[in-house]
Formats: sequence, C-alpha cells, structure tokens
Amino acid sequence: MSKDNRKRIIEMLSNSGEEFISGESISKELGISRAAVWKHINYLKENGYEIEAINKKGYRIVDVNSDVIIPEQITANLDTKFVGQNIKYFQEIDSTNNYAKDNFESLKDGTLIISEYQSAGKGRLGKNWQSNIGEGIWMSLMLKPEIPVYKAPFLTLVAGAAILNAFRNIGVDAEIKWPNDIVLNGKKICGILTEMVAEVERVGCVVIGMGINVNTMLFPGELSEKATSLKKEGFELKRSDIIREIMHEFEKLYTTYIEYGSKEEVISVCRKYSVLIGKDVYIINKNHREKVYCMDISDDGNLIVKHDDGVIEEVISGEVSVRGQNGYI
Ligand code: BTN
Repeated sequence: MSKDNRKRIIEMLSNSGEEFISGESISKELGISRAAVWKHINYLKENGYEIEAINKKGYRIVDVNSDVIIPEQITANLDTKFVGQNIKYFQEIDSTNNYAKDNFESLKDGTLIISEYQSAGKGRLGKNWQSNIGEGIWMSLMLKPEIPVYKAPFLTLVAGAAILNAFRNIGVDAEIKWPNDIVLNGKKICGILTEMVAEVERVGCVVIGMGINVNTMLFPGELSEKATSLKKEGFELKRSDIIREIMHEFEKLYTTYIEYGSKEEVISVCRKYSVLIGKDVYIINKNHREKVYCMDISDDGNLIVKHDDGVIEEVISGEVSVRGQNGYI
C-alpha cells in the first residue's frame, strides 16, 4: 500500500469534516481501486482513527477531535521541504534522542522520531524526563547540517524560538526561560535537549529532543510546583497539529541560520518572550549558586547578567541552570 495515497486519503477525510466522501470519489481522485481504498481505510482504523463507513455514502472521520498521532496525518498537510517529512513512530522506545543518535547514518536529514512512551526519557544535565503514554509529545528531530561543531548549540535557541512561534500561531502565549525551557503561566510546558554526534571538527548529526506536556493532569511531587501541561492550562489541542506547526516554524528559522548564519530573528523572538530579562535569578553551576540580575540576551544567544559587584558577564548555556528566587522562575 502506498504511503502517499494513505496520506492523500487522510488529507481528503480531514478536509471534508462532517461530510462523507464516497469510496468511488477517493478511488477516482487517486487512480486506485475501491478495494485499495478499503484497505487504506482499514489500516487507518487499526491505527486509532475512528472512521465511520456507511453504505452508499462513503467515509468520514467520526471523532475529528481525537488526539491520535498518525505520521501520515502530520505529513499530509505539512508544507516543509524536508523537516518532518520522514517520521519514525514508536509506541515505546527508551529515548527518541538515543534512537536518532544511534541510527542517524541510515536516516534522512530532517527525520522526526516520535514515541508515545519513553522508558528512559532524558532531560538536561542527566535528569529523567517523565514521558507517559498519550500525555505529551516526545519527539526528536535529526538534522545533518554542514556546520562546524561550535555552531551547533545555537540550534537549541532555534528550536525554542520555533516552538514559541508555533505555540503563538495556535493561540498559546508561551514564553521562554533561556536557554531551553518553554513556559506557560509561570510553569514549564516544554523542555529541549540538544545532543550531537561529531568527529573532531565535523558534525555528524544534531538531535533536537523536544518534550511537550500536552495532556498531563497530574505531576508527581515537586514537579507539580514547576511543570504544567497545555490541557491543565485550558488548551485542548491535537498533538498532530502542534507537531506540524513546530516543523513548519523550525524549518524557516533553521534554514536562515544554516544558509546565511543569521541569528537575528531567533534572538529577537527569544528576547521578546523571555521570562528572565529584568529579573534577579540564581545561576547554578555544579555546586556553585550565585544571584545575578538578567540584563539581556546577547546577539550570539548568551545570557547577559550583572553580578552584585556590578561586573557584567555573558553566560554560555552549557552546564548552568537558572532558578528563580522563589522557585522555578
Ligand atoms: C529538559 O528540559 O531537561 C529537556 C527535556 C527533553 C525531553 C525530550 S522528550 C523527547 C526527547 N527524548 C529524550 O529522551 N529527551 C527528549
């Protein structure tokens, strides 16, 4: 069965909403037999799509609001050149970042790896990332940019700006806590973990892992103080739509950075929606903790801070974490 045809069928069904589409019109449009259409519909049903089939009327998606992830549904209306055009989808995996790093040689540039559940989801600085089934978007974008190694860390901010733009396109007024947390109503809604496979000077691949809390209603222990989900904040959004929007926004910013070396737009988005600028925060580096005032984000993407003695310094993301004076921000 051709994936392209399946993609077109999903597109036709999605775009027709409550209306039925006959098997005959699908088969004519795609130039395939009615039996082939029927096989595609069955595949979709087995993979979580609720499709109503009525004799002489045809097919329609029953629950257009259901939050299943079907790769073809994401790619069906995805207008990117390569970002997210190939998707590896798993029910369970240890970590989508690990899969991307372990298999990058056989994966196409821009491949997106998504899993419903991660048994060993990774956060920054060696922390775990809770990745329960159906609760969020656990995905990694695998990229093969031809850039020197030192240019790769900026891609975390590219992803952050892309997620902010994507969220804002769908009505979610999120902010960014430099360098890798996306925040909604003062709590973390998404984390970004950028990893790289590199030889001395050459980047083999960059993997941008994104964990977005979508449907989680209960966060354990101290996480409940600092984490939230889109649903908890009153947003009922389909994961496929969010993913598609992020891929679309990411490709624009990524291409500008890789092809022209321009950081301008990314920095301006990160400045505009920063939760840190203008605040006193703690910068934590291993066991050392210091209170500083956040002045700005530099044109290179570093955090410009002022120490108590008035000295101004640029902090590079790397190993530091940033904490608010009374908690997360
Ligand atoms: C952080 O805020 O500490 C970063 C969290 C990154 C989590 C995502 S979920 C998908 C991808 N796979 C992983 O193992 N981690 C990232």
